[in-house]
Amino acid sequence: MTPLTPMPSDAILKPTHLPLVEIRDLRTHFFTDDGVVKAVEGVDLDVHANRTLCILGESGCGKSIMARSMLRIVDSPGRIVDGSITYRAADGRTVDLAKARLGSKELRGIRGQDIAMIFQEPMSSLGPITKIGKQITETLLLHRKITKAEAKEIAIEMLNKVGIPNPAERYEAYPFELSGGMRQRAMIAMALSCEPRLLIADEPTTALDVTTQAQILDLIAELKDELAMGVMLITHDLGVVAEVAEDVAVMYMGRVVEKGDVYSIFENPQHPYTQALLKSVPRIGGERRRRLPAIRGMVPHPLARPSGCPFRTRCDHAMAGVCDVEVPELTEVGGSQVACFLHDTEVANG
Ligand SMILES: Nc1ncnc2c1ncn2[C@@H]1O[C@H](COP(=O)(O)OP(=O)(O)OP(=O)(O)O)[C@@H](O)[C@H]1O
Ligand SMILES: [Mg+2]
Repeated sequence: MTPLTPMPSDAILKPTHLPLVEIRDLRTHFFTDDGVVKAVEGVDLDVHANRTLCILGESGCGKSIMARSMLRIVDSPGRIVDGSITYRAADGRTVDLAKARLGSKELRGIRGQDIAMIFQEPMSSLGPITKIGKQITETLLLHRKITKAEAKEIAIEMLNKVGIPNPAERYEAYPFELSGGMRQRAMIAMALSCEPRLLIADEPTTALDVTTQAQILDLIAELKDELAMGVMLITHDLGVVAEVAEDVAVMYMGRVVEKGDVYSIFENPQHPYTQALLKSVPRIGGERRRRLPAIRGMVPHPLARPSGCPFRTRCDHAMAGVCDVEVPELTEVGGSQVACFLHDTEVANG
């Protein structure tokens, strides 16, 4: 029996052709003793079935908090203060994850089953004192109507699929008995065993060696095709983006400053921030991978957000009286959407 039922992408796309998830004006703030940290401050984003969306941006720009907001696993003192996260279920019904009641059956059903998340640190989703196999079968039994024996069979097959040698043996292992790379694979096996419709991967391979990293990204790509799964991949590695992304969103200080398909973004970046990020990047199909380059100046302290466009303090093109006054909204430019007054026709025309 195979746990992964191939699903033609049409089966998901046909009824609506609408995104799996539509995030609108999402705001997630942390209410600290020192003030309010606006970690996510008005994010608009669509995630589609059968496509990989890569999220780019310097450390602290809100990538993880946005992802955690989608599953409602933001730690206190953080909470969603505004906006919507519309998840479209397989039957076409929609749920606003931003407003779903914490602990509700609806949210629990979606989390782990429809939407799965993998983290940089496997121990954040693997329990330390339960055997690997049991953790996977428990998840399976919670979400699927199958027997224990079937669950075990699927779990072992999944462990095999993520490249764990001797999966039947490893099924009986505790997480601490596995190497870091194997633990990471086990976590991915757990996330994927329920055949999620959306996989959110937050730097899932950063801690791994290059070979394992490549294998895991290949596996995610394979399963994406097999299940027509939507993938949201957070990564600092521009080489990975060039290899796996269909769509790219660039974040800065809690906002999406540019988004579009990977070709538009890499070949014709419009936002000064995206341009700076990509300046030293190899062309698609070109040479080797590279990490995000350093950009002039520093990201402002989260408690000291600049007025207007948050990037203006580091931008060579900042216009006084414009960029420091209003926050630019995303507008269509060429193949992408850009939040920058340089591309605002009203501003350009005076
Ligand atoms: N528990 C918390 N309390 C206060 N502020 C927080 C908390 N968790 C995150 N933040 C703030 O939220 C902002 C966004 O953090 P986030 O972890 O989403 O960044 P990121 O883009 O994922 O960065 P990285 O690339 O380093 O993973 C940062 O300014 C961070 O300091
Ligand atoms: Mg992060």
